[in-house]
Amino acid sequence: MISLNFDFKNALKFISKAQIEQLQEALDHQFIAVREKTGRGNDFLGWTDLPTSVDESLVSKIEAAAARFREKSEVSVVVGIGGSYLGARAVIDALSPNFNFLKKKQGNPIVCYAGNNISEDYLAELLEVLDAKDYTMTVISKSGTTTEPALAFRLLRDHMEAKYGKEESKNRIIAITDAERGALKQLADEEGYETFVVPDNVGGRYSVLTPVGLLPIAIAGLDIRKLMQGADEMAQFSEKSFDIKENPVAAYAAVRHALYLKGFTTEIMVNYEPALFYFTEWWKQLYGESQGKESKGIFPAGVSNTTDLHSMGQYIQEGMRNLFETVLSVEKPAHELLVPKDEKNLDKLNYLAGKAIHEVNHMAELGTTLAHVDGGVPNLRVTVPAINENTIGQLIYFYEMACAVGGYLLEINPFDQPGVEAYKKNMFALLGKPGFEKETEAIQNRLKDETKN
Ligand code: PA5
Repeated sequence: MISLNFDFKNALKFISKAQIEQLQEALDHQFIAVREKTGRGNDFLGWTDLPTSVDESLVSKIEAAAARFREKSEVSVVVGIGGSYLGARAVIDALSPNFNFLKKKQGNPIVCYAGNNISEDYLAELLEVLDAKDYTMTVISKSGTTTEPALAFRLLRDHMEAKYGKEESKNRIIAITDAERGALKQLADEEGYETFVVPDNVGGRYSVLTPVGLLPIAIAGLDIRKLMQGADEMAQFSEKSFDIKENPVAAYAAVRHALYLKGFTTEIMVNYEPALFYFTEWWKQLYGESQGKESKGIFPAGVSNTTDLHSMGQYIQEGMRNLFETVLSVEKPAHELLVPKDEKNLDKLNYLAGKAIHEVNHMAELGTTLAHVDGGVPNLRVTVPAINENTIGQLIYFYEMACAVGGYLLEINPFDQPGVEAYKKNMFALLGKPGFEKETEAIQNRLKDETKN
């Protein structure tokens, strides 16, 4: 049984139930296309089977590798970008204490990230930290050729080999990459690193329940079996019926599509827990890269409240009216903290004395929802009872499935990302990468022309 709930009553001022329900027939087809693997991009639907047909020996191998790394390291670096990074970070941040990075080692290494940017300062400062820490490293790249992680890995590997020697470094590096192809696969084989495979039929942004996400999550000390169990519960539930009235995945996909057809072209995922910041980032990548193509798709944005009510709140309340919000709401916090009474009451907060901080947060959430609906922003709400491995697993499958079905409603392929190549071509031309000579000349001429004008 799932504990996730989806509520769209605060969208019904903007779209009617009939407008939503008329999508049912199309939705039925799209669900079946995903299930039967007959739709566009069907080579990349392997993620649908991950929670239900868990490979026990793979999970045990991941747990053993994670235990080895946990034993060896104060810090474990995860090198990867996009789908080879965001799923792990989303889950680790959601499920680890907020100030984990300030805490002393308690059996769990601090997981930190590299290869998700090309900042010289970021890398130099990371190497400085690693000078003084015992560390291990997981390098993740399906293609094995992505510039950002390849660059970071080259630097980190040099650093590690200088610190521990080549032999010991082999025990401190795990590579997650294609089963057969790519530069990382070749390097890992030559060096003898332990490796895990990114399945051929799972694209990066749908790969959090493969070793890509599961190994870093297990290194952080989290229970990957419970995570898979949560995803499985959602997978089984959403298989039973595709009815919008019964299946939250169907309802979410239908409501956001109906809103899109009415001109609501930006969706803002809203959270009220800082721990969910990277979950929002993961969701942004999933929806942005899957659905933004062929000049179609809802633009996925994110805010973290109440922080962003003091920065983005004005725009959301009164800016252009093409926005809708999806609040990821958590019913119960892990801790209890009450507002203390203060004799002087100079801050005039005694009216809150004795109330839980969460209740204040919750009223901020409710008050904001009502204000935004009044201001013309439809509001959807995904609620989970608490943040834990089970609910995060449910959420992962919920959003992945709704993204795939929603992509098919848009009549696009939700599993490719052809647009990502454009910046790479220019960057390689500008950097003089061999094989890009023609592009280098063209881009240099273009830049000269721009300077003249
Ligand atoms: O979702 C995707 O496919 C992308 O975000 C990729 O994961 C990302 O570009 C990293 O690719 P790779 O794992 O090949 O280094």
